[in-house]
Amino acid sequence: MAHVRDHHQQRFFPSFLIWVIIIQSLFLIKIPSCSCSSSSWCQHHHTHQHTNRKFEQKTTIFWEFEEESKTWVRVKLPYDLLSCVNDNNNCTKVGIIEPINEGNNDETRIELDQEQDSKEEDGHGERKKKKMIKKDERKIGVLASRNRISLIKMSDDSIWVTGVSGSIYERFWNGLQWVVAPHELHVQAGYAVSIFLVNHTVFALSEAGILYQIQLTENSQPIWVEFAPILDSSTTIQIKSGVTSHDKERIYFCTQNGLLLELSESGPPRWVNHGKPPGADVAAIVDAAAIRPQVIFTISSSGDLYEFDRTSKPLWKKHIWSKEMTQDTALTPLIGCTVHRRTGSHSDSLFLLTKGGNLVERRLHQRKWKWVIHGSPRDEHLTSMTLVTLDETYTHPFSLFLTTASGSVFEYNISKQQGYAQVKHVEELWVNRMHPPHTKVAKGVAGLQYQVGRLLFPLDDGRLGELHQSKTGGDGVGPTPPINTRRRASTKYTWSIIDAPESEGWNAEYCTDDRGPLNCFAGVKDELNDEETTRSASRRRAGNKVHEHYYLTSPASSRSRSQEETYTDPENSVNKNFRLRVMHEGRSFFLVTEGGLLYEYLNIENAWFWLQHEHPTAMKGALGSYNGSLFLVDENKDLIIRERAGNELTWINCTGAKKGRQVIGGTPWDLPPGRSPKVTPEDSLFFVSKTGGLLQLTVALRKLKWKDCRNPSDSKIAGIIDKELFRENIVFVVGRDGQLYQYNKVTGLWHRHYQSQHMVLSRHSGTAMRPSSQSLTGSLFMISEDGRLIEYHWNPMDGWNWVEHGTPCLGVILVGSTGPCIGGNQLFLIGSNGNVYLRYLDQVTWKWSDCGFPYIGNIVGENRQEEKVCIDQELRHKTHQECKKEADNCDPKVAPTRPISLAETSVIFELRDGRLAEMQRTEDLQWVWWRTIGTPTSRCNVIYWTAVAS
Ligand SMILES: *[C@@H]1O[C@H](CO)[C@@H](O)[C@H](O)[C@H]1NC(C)=O
Ligand SMILES: *[C@@H]1O[C@H](CO)[C@@H](O)[C@H](O)[C@H]1NC(C)=O
Ligand SMILES: *[C@@H]1O[C@H](CO)[C@@H](O)[C@H](O)[C@H]1NC(C)=O
Ligand SMILES: *[C@@H]1O[C@H](CO)[C@@H](O)[C@H](O)[C@H]1NC(C)=O
Ligand SMILES: *[C@@H]1O[C@H](CO)[C@@H](O)[C@H](O)[C@H]1NC(C)=O
Repeated sequence: MAHVRDHHQQRFFPSFLIWVIIIQSLFLIKIPSCSCSSSSWCQHHHTHQHTNRKFEQKTTIFWEFEEESKTWVRVKLPYDLLSCVNDNNNCTKVGIIEPINEGNNDETRIELDQEQDSKEEDGHGERKKKKMIKKDERKIGVLASRNRISLIKMSDDSIWVTGVSGSIYERFWNGLQWVVAPHELHVQAGYAVSIFLVNHTVFALSEAGILYQIQLTENSQPIWVEFAPILDSSTTIQIKSGVTSHDKERIYFCTQNGLLLELSESGPPRWVNHGKPPGADVAAIVDAAAIRPQVIFTISSSGDLYEFDRTSKPLWKKHIWSKEMTQDTALTPLIGCTVHRRTGSHSDSLFLLTKGGNLVERRLHQRKWKWVIHGSPRDEHLTSMTLVTLDETYTHPFSLFLTTASGSVFEYNISKQQGYAQVKHVEELWVNRMHPPHTKVAKGVAGLQYQVGRLLFPLDDGRLGELHQSKTGGDGVGPTPPINTRRRASTKYTWSIIDAPESEGWNAEYCTDDRGPLNCFAGVKDELNDEETTRSASRRRAGNKVHEHYYLTSPASSRSRSQEETYTDPENSVNKNFRLRVMHEGRSFFLVTEGGLLYEYLNIENAWFWLQHEHPTAMKGALGSYNGSLFLVDENKDLIIRERAGNELTWINCTGAKKGRQVIGGTPWDLPPGRSPKVTPEDSLFFVSKTGGLLQLTVALRKLKWKDCRNPSDSKIAGIIDKELFRENIVFVVGRDGQLYQYNKVTGLWHRHYQSQHMVLSRHSGTAMRPSSQSLTGSLFMISEDGRLIEYHWNPMDGWNWVEHGTPCLGVILVGSTGPCIGGNQLFLIGSNGNVYLRYLDQVTWKWSDCGFPYIGNIVGENRQEEKVCIDQELRHKTHQECKKEADNCDPKVAPTRPISLAETSVIFELRDGRLAEMQRTEDLQWVWWRTIGTPTSRCNVIYWTAVAS
């Protein structure tokens, strides 16, 4: 295999060189200082000009000659320009073509990389490697920083995690399976960033710098209680980070103003302020009494290493680099790794990372300190490290697992380094352990050695990855008994993905108090309960397969925006999907008429009124509502808010706000009836931009902050299927390619769901059905392009699955988008024949019911012994002719406008004649046509009213 690949690469290298030459001649024409018009003239005079390293370029498309196919292929940007000599992998990066930035119209920027030198330095007889190309992170897609993520092991049965969302959860082995328990800080405390365990006491640190301690209430419920540092100074202390000491008896903290604090006793609390190094600060603690008790190593924000020893004078010592080592010596403020007896019985090593992404070692050997540079794998930037030892004693043998800026894990094969023997191939020192399929490892966050041969790493998408030796780990495998032998374990590793809870946008269900394997503490296996046992068994089986439902898709670069046309929706879905919107459950809703007028239908003291809201521009649709404000789109695609300020009604132009954008679509549903809002400072509405991107508007506390979430690289967005009703923090969208995608609000990542090529979704919105907020089981309903009902279902046994429901009957397809879902088991749909259909779950069987449309002859109530839901078929057929007798301006068939539910017992439809009609659920749980509602613009005045005796 390896041989074949090498060969393949070699064949490609020469083409780079040719290509570089072609591109360079193109650029040289455009050098700003050149005032000529002849390209050959320019070339002649500027070929050797290197001082101006920024070039302007008027071409955005680049081609590369592919030898294999003997054709020119268009290249993707950013693209590295390589200069290759001979045929033997001897390539140097000489530059990069980057995609243009937003606003830079049609320009592409070329930067020549000045770090192309890779000369070797020789100091202290050791091999040192300088980073070769560090600026190419964009090429491999630099990941976002995940500052809130941390992992700690409380015991073999319990791992505590702080997630990207700032929540705290515990992965607990209940004896049968891993369960997930929430331990979130209260809302006012904000986001958690780390957890500490000292003497059986658990502390959490919030992003605001406040420490909390877990305590049990009288009824044994754990709660977080603020645990403020008590110091002489009266100023409030904000903590930035902390490290538990090596003996696990105290915690050292560094504060936001750069001090070193120590918590040496928690009950009663005893705090010591150790101050800071002279002329510097404490930005991170890298070693807390692991090298020697009482000695703390810290890093200042300028990247210098300091040693604090309370028993020596001076208290602080700076570890400086020798003069000749001037390159990349600033250290990253991150915890280091400490190893004893690496180079002898009295040696200690402290491994650290530099800001340039290299591994360095501060080594104490025979009472002398020395710097050792280990470097980094070629083209990689190291961002965190995890120490792996065979028996957790921090001694040799050991290995280091390092995560890179591009989201891979490398194992540093340090035994090769032993004795400073000349290493022939640097690459052999670094063993690439990669990352799980379809996802990356979070950058800059240390992993955790859970057990020997089992490592946990937080993933960039919010889940966890377990890197384990084949067959000894994975999601379904509990703590394994310790291996006694010091036999070198196998070096074959496998990745498994461990799902995260909904707080991170994922599907791990929180544990319950019910009897069964999901029970937090008991984890009972109830043989009598078949469903539960199969469930736990399949859960374990499904454990390692979570990732197969979706794959990561990078967001399309924003550069393409300027080049692209505005999307014109052939179906005018804004008008169909967003004509109606509930304002106050049961009391008020809005109607946007075909002509662009905005009316509110509201109930005051049991009487219903139409109220017109006049706006200078015509309205197109109501795209969302939040906390008493309605978000509308007008004919110019501007987003306009209608809200009440005191007694006044006001309009706010949201598109006119900072970074505001034009929109063509929004989210189908706000809160379902009966559910009270869970207010968070992250509350947002989402919209579809004119160019097919997803836009986030943070609306909590009236922030009105816009964010461009872009679109998946595979496709532009056609519409929003669901926003956070199915999964918290997840927005499901349909691409213009008819495929399902999801956007994770917490991580900002796009995923695509696997879907049959032959199943193409319509561009309309969908409906989420989640019967209980306790369980994540539920479905998304959508209409396919050819008018069939499609369900995308999730349950803990099988994960995600597509289900096709088809159409209600032959010759009738479904039109518009899916309607409201009521009671977690009834879904309203509109047929191409103008009838309303109900798809409902009867025990475990899905059934169709035809609800027809409201017209005078169609009186319900007499003949409904048989059908449980909706009215009798036969009766409607009989009266079908009669409806034609209604007034000329009337057409009581139901229009393909997306219906809304005004309350849990009421659904409002629009009729083809412009009237509205309401269905209500009677006390014996049947849906009946209740009344029609004349609108100010409908010319049909026939009134339909049912008085169903109940
Ligand atoms: C690689 O190319 C450089 C010139 O760019 C040359 O000095 C060096 O000897 C070459 N190395 C190998 C291994 O061919
Ligand atoms: C932890 O326990 C040790 C030994 O009992 C004690 O000396 C130390 O002060 C305790 N630390 C904290 C933070 O309570
Ligand atoms: C690490 O180096 C040792 C000694 O050269 C070698 O035996 C071992 O196979 C290497 N490990 C890996 C994972 O390559
Ligand atoms: C809203 O603001 C945008 C951008 O400033 C402007 O073009 C548009 O005319 C405004 N619309 C209304 C209705 O004021
Ligand atoms: C809801 O609206 C009220 C009144 O405008 C405002 O004071 C409050 O901050 C809003 N709440 C949220 C969560 O945005």
